[in-house]
Amino acid sequence: MNITMVGTGYVGLVSGAGLADFGMQVICVDKDTDRIERLNRGEIPFYEPGLEELVTKNVRNGRLSFTTDLRMAVERSLVIFIAVGTPDNSQGQPDLSQVEEVAKRLAEIIDDYKVLVVKSTVPVGTNRWVKEVLQANMKKDVKIDVVSNPEFLREGSAIEDFMRPDRVVLGSDSQRALAIVKDVYRALYLIESPFVLTNLETAELIKYASNSFLATKISFINEVANICEEVGADVHHVARAMGLDGRIGPKFLHPGPGYGGSCFHKDTLAFAHLGRSLERPVRIVEAVIQVNRDQRKRMITKIEDALGPLEGKIVGILGLTFKPNTSDVRESPALDIAQTLLNKGATIKAYDPAGMDEFKKVVRDEKVSYCNSAYEVAKGADALVFLTEWNEFRNLDLKKLKKNLSTPVILDLRNIYEPERMAELGFKYSGVGRGTNI
Ligand code: UGA
Repeated sequence: MNITMVGTGYVGLVSGAGLADFGMQVICVDKDTDRIERLNRGEIPFYEPGLEELVTKNVRNGRLSFTTDLRMAVERSLVIFIAVGTPDNSQGQPDLSQVEEVAKRLAEIIDDYKVLVVKSTVPVGTNRWVKEVLQANMKKDVKIDVVSNPEFLREGSAIEDFMRPDRVVLGSDSQRALAIVKDVYRALYLIESPFVLTNLETAELIKYASNSFLATKISFINEVANICEEVGADVHHVARAMGLDGRIGPKFLHPGPGYGGSCFHKDTLAFAHLGRSLERPVRIVEAVIQVNRDQRKRMITKIEDALGPLEGKIVGILGLTFKPNTSDVRESPALDIAQTLLNKGATIKAYDPAGMDEFKKVVRDEKVSYCNSAYEVAKGADALVFLTEWNEFRNLDLKKLKKNLSTPVILDLRNIYEPERMAELGFKYSGVGRGTNI
């Protein structure tokens, strides 16, 4: 089956390469000529483990190609996926202009039955609106069906998530379209991945409810961590014991500086906005958003508790991305925290295995210098702050770090190390929701 994937961002590229690997003939389309040229040269525009290999393999076997020619791709395809960006418009609503633009272009091109699959995360009601936009702009009177197919890929494990998803959600009013898209995913059907077939609005809502619930777990455990600090409890033991209850589950109960990444930020805001617009406020999600903001502020308080006034202090930051195994710094806690430290007069030395180039594009300040290793960051710094739990930070030579630091202070905001061991080694150490000697 021939498929067009419009948009070669994160979702589009992973899904396009994944569907090609499932045996589909996939043409990925983007209006960004430079991006398409780079993809045709085998360059992947962002860091995602395993993606380059998957793309190369499927380009080589002739199942995956890249073009800017939407008409050519659409004419050859029965199924067209839309995977363009829906960034936050800064009022808590996703900006749907790219989706609208693609729908209008498709309306000009389509001249026989097609199934349009919306993968971009879009507010409830958008898929129906897309169908209306298409119908209003169609040159020919042909039938098209729209299917909502939200994605649940995590950056850093996107290939694994695509190949072995917990579920595939498909929403449509058309049984015919559902059957066609189910066929696109038949490789997953064969390995018995659960499919949820439903209507458009339900599929759209599943995405927002899922991401908001995951964000809720994180804000919840962060509040538990704050209580742990007050009463001398250990949040890891609390989380482990909670997670052993099958009804709660162990995942997404790791405390830290608050969730980052574009998805949770954007989707919690959009879900809260939806609730308000319907006069059915989603109060839990409103609180989750506020707790997440406050958690970042709390991290600054921790740093100040350890260092005193920040004016003139040199703070070493390890980890800039919103989580490990990605180069993405969007909504990363490191952005907010670094900016506040700078505003309070500190100087920053930073290192991240993959995110420094992206970080530099956002934080343009001569008081931030970038290093090649954790040890270089530590040299002469008044404190080290861990902000992303990259694997390479898990086994650092702590004695060497201590020697390099001008004062042996560590703020482990991802709880990478054990408080007792750090105290034994002579560090002033604080994690999140565990023992501290600061
Ligand atoms: C998230 C969802 O997990 C995916 O299912 C979804 O498809 C994706 O959003 C999306 O909507 O596109 P992602 O943003 O890649 O995926 O990252 P997560 O692994 O969910 O982590 C998000 C943030 O939460 C990170 O900053 C991470 O450090 C933080 N986190 C996660 C915690 O602070 N504690 C945890 O226990 C788990």
